[in-house]
This record gives sequence, C-alpha cells and structure tokens, in this order.
Amino acid sequence: MMRASVLLLLATFLPVLWACNGDQTAGNADAPGMTRETPPPTPAKVEHPEPSKRAGNFENLVADYESKDRVIWQKPGIVIALLGDLKGKTVADIGAGTGYFTFRMVPLADKVIGVDIDPRFISFMDSVKVRLPEQYRNRFESRLAKPDNPMLTPEEADAVIIVNTYGYIVNRVKYLRTLARGMTTGAELLIIDFKKNNLPVGPDDVFKVALSQVEQELGAAGFEVARVDNETLDYQYIVLANKK
Ligand SMILES: C[S@@+](CC[C@H](N)C(=O)[O-])C[C@H]1O[C@@H](n2cnc3c(N)ncnc32)[C@H](O)[C@@H]1O
Repeated sequence: MMRASVLLLLATFLPVLWACNGDQTAGNADAPGMTRETPPPTPAKVEHPEPSKRAGNFENLVADYESKDRVIWQKPGIVIALLGDLKGKTVADIGAGTGYFTFRMVPLADKVIGVDIDPRFISFMDSVKVRLPEQYRNRFESRLAKPDNPMLTPEEADAVIIVNTYGYIVNRVKYLRTLARGMTTGAELLIIDFKKNNLPVGPDDVFKVALSQVEQELGAAGFEVARVDNETLDYQYIVLANKK
C-alpha cells in the first residue's frame, strides 16, 4: 500500500528529475517555464497546501515539499548559486526530505549526500536515484542519520545546506559542533528557514527559529557568519557561514 503510494507520488511529483536532465546550471532552475513543464497536473487537493494541518502523513509531506508552485518562492537556482562553483565538491543536504535541493545539486557537484532521519525519505530518495541519468547516479548517496548526528565522516563535506529543517533540530549548538567535524576547513554552511509571522507556506511559528538566534547559535558552535539575507526570498531568511 505504502509502496504503491510512493510509486504514484514518484510519477506525479518528480520535477527534481528535470534538474538532472542534462547539464542545467543552477541559475535556470528558477525559470518560470520549468513549472509549466510539469507533465501531469498537480491534483487539486494539493494546490493549496496547508503544511501544518497535514504534517505526519508521508504522501502529503511529499506533495508539500514537491509542490509545483514552490519554485516561485523557493528560488532553488538562486539558493544553490550561493554555494559558488560546486565542481569537485561534496555537498551534504541535512534534512533532505524528498531531495528537492539534493537532486538539483547532483549535476553540479562531485557528490551530494541526502541526509535525513526519516527512513521513508531515504527510501524515497533512493527511488529517485534509480531514475537519474546514469552519469549522475553515482554522485548521489542517501544517508540515514540520527536526530543528534548527521553521520558525516570527518571532513567529508565541502558544503552543507540545511533548508526548512533547522527548527526541528534539538540541542542545535551541540549538533552544529558535531556537523562541523564532518566539514572541511572553510566549508560553507547554508541555512535557510522560514521567517516568523503567518505565511501562506511553511510550518507554524512554534517550529521557526529567529534569524538572530541562528546567527547566535552558529557563533556559539564556532562558525563564522559570512552573509545574512532577509530579502532575496519572500518567506525565508538565508544565512551563509563558514567552518573556521
Ligand atoms: C520540512 S522538511 C525539509 C525537506 C527539504 N530540506 C526541503 O526543503 O524540501 C524537514 C526534513 O528534515 C528531516 N529532519 C528533521 N530533523 C532532522 C535531523 N535532526 N537531522 C536530519 N534530518 C532531520 C525530516 O525528516 C524532514 O525530511
């Protein structure tokens, strides 16, 4: 039953595969035309997602993360470009979910690790992997992590992204210190999360962390904050830090 549902979702919600269909640059992933190219229309019931009301149901979470309108406000191409040239680099996507960012980075990096604590998302990403063009398949690895440990090997990642996941991590300063051990010196850490106040997308405010708190926690964990951007994305802030 669950397997059938996941297969149905794969057929319906995989715009991520376009990102691996040829050597697209990160920049053109935001082109409005891409949303129009989604083969089957999104079912009416997920046209107006209400994430907080549907949390916990896997199919609904997948529909939410992969919703076709997300590209408009998430601007994945602009976000990924913030990491600079990923050629030859290993990137870890912490809390990767369906791999919304993971699979967009696969054509650009040497290796992308989709890290998640939920085995359902690990299985989901693995089912996407088999549909990738062959030249990209070995660049992706899924990794089942623990809530307090991203399970990276020492200095494994040259760049790390944490999108819409930071607020779900407990003991964040300790977590960031553990994460830092899995990063090379100078490696980038990109954190993106929802601004407070009622927004048409994103979780309830209780799951959100204020931008100032993210900065403070990064500093406490020994990271150097290089850039803070509250403007580029309508609903989210962006923090770029480096491992010292
Ligand atoms: C809201 S989703 C975001 C998914 C993806 N980053 C995106 O933007 O589409 C949050 C994800 O983080 C995962 N997660 C929650 N706590 C985590 C932790 N401590 N370590 C790694 N992943 C975690 C959840 O299982 C879920 O897949």
